[in-house]
Amino acid sequence: MSPPVAIEQNEELQETILKLANLKPLGQFRSQTQIETGPQIEWLEKVPEPTRKRFEKYGIDLSKGYPIIPENKDIPKFVDEAFEIRNSEYPYIERGKNADPEKKALFGAAKEVIDLTKHIGTEIVGLQLSDLDDKQKDELALLVAERVVVFFRDQDLSPQKQLELGEYWGQVERHPQAPHVPLPKKEGESDDIAKGSGISVIWRHFFNDFYGIKPSFKKGGISSGWHTDLVHEFQPAGITHLHNDTIPATGGDTAWSSGYAAYDKLSPAFQKFLDGKKAVYISAHAYLDRENPLQGPQRIEREHPIIRTHPTTGWKSLFVNRAMTKSIVGLEPEESKLILEYLFQVFEKNLDIQVRFHWQPTKEGFGTSAIWDNRISQHFAIGDYEVEDLRHGTRVTSLAEVPYFDESSKSQREALGLSLD
Ligand SMILES: [Fe+2]
Repeated sequence: MSPPVAIEQNEELQETILKLANLKPLGQFRSQTQIETGPQIEWLEKVPEPTRKRFEKYGIDLSKGYPIIPENKDIPKFVDEAFEIRNSEYPYIERGKNADPEKKALFGAAKEVIDLTKHIGTEIVGLQLSDLDDKQKDELALLVAERVVVFFRDQDLSPQKQLELGEYWGQVERHPQAPHVPLPKKEGESDDIAKGSGISVIWRHFFNDFYGIKPSFKKGGISSGWHTDLVHEFQPAGITHLHNDTIPATGGDTAWSSGYAAYDKLSPAFQKFLDGKKAVYISAHAYLDRENPLQGPQRIEREHPIIRTHPTTGWKSLFVNRAMTKSIVGLEPEESKLILEYLFQVFEKNLDIQVRFHWQPTKEGFGTSAIWDNRISQHFAIGDYEVEDLRHGTRVTSLAEVPYFDESSKSQREALGLSLD
């Protein structure tokens, strides 16, 4: 009887595929070898001192290990599984939209507000993020929407408060593969630490070791390259808040480039060509194709408008990045490749639309926060520091709206009445 044999073979094949997939979760890098998932006990002693102090102060229990990687059984192996995560519209409130345009509550409480460059980046001095009320949080969301990235030095910020801030600005992203900070269990909450706390760990020393990447001055390996976070999501990242609690005295800067300004760099004819077009965006992490697992690592793919309208400012922004924009929909592959290469370079080569930030606080024992909007920017973590130069941070990302293009929206310079030449 042939059908049962076929089913049996099929089951056997499925089992083999699952076994293969379970050998190790597929990460961002092909070179990874043995990976132990779950809490990382052997990394506990390497946690930098300022980080340990911050975690102890705020009751973060590291006794099970640090950081926490989701358990292998909880990590999706197949690209269709990963695609299904948050794959339908969920509520989102654009906090900056109803804020006071003059931001009196936020600016009134600050000692100083310094624009770091003309087109991107503002530093707020003399304000603790943990003290902000809702009105100030709305105004900060507006400021981030206008200035792309906003910095706060000398912060005493608990991971819990960082998460709370992120939850105010949108649904916090919980990553199926990435290392995270364990949070004290709330009453009635299950013991399932693999779900992810929503506080990702940014710790290059750990990443390099964990994924088996050898840092090399010639080949890189610790710089991130220009990219935008989580563009493959159904509702991609809005505000990201990175708080660095351990910062090298020299090096480890981060640069940001403005998507509004990148759009304004294009000629009106080219802007018109791109307005309304869509592109294909891919995930940073890889998974297996269930039907053809031997194809190797596959990325999640999703289409979004290549020019986005920001819901708060109403300004148009160029939404591409070298790492995760695969192609422009409707163009021949060669056309798409050439045009995308040019658009990547607009972000990367125009230093007048970039800001480079050194994270060093002015007071010892404090951390520094950068809060940026992924809808209107790319960023680049500069890896000019050695293993002995400790650097560690915690990151919370708030997911935003389903991306859209409003053809009646204006470019930033157009809206601000600046010269379009
Ligand atoms: Fe990033």
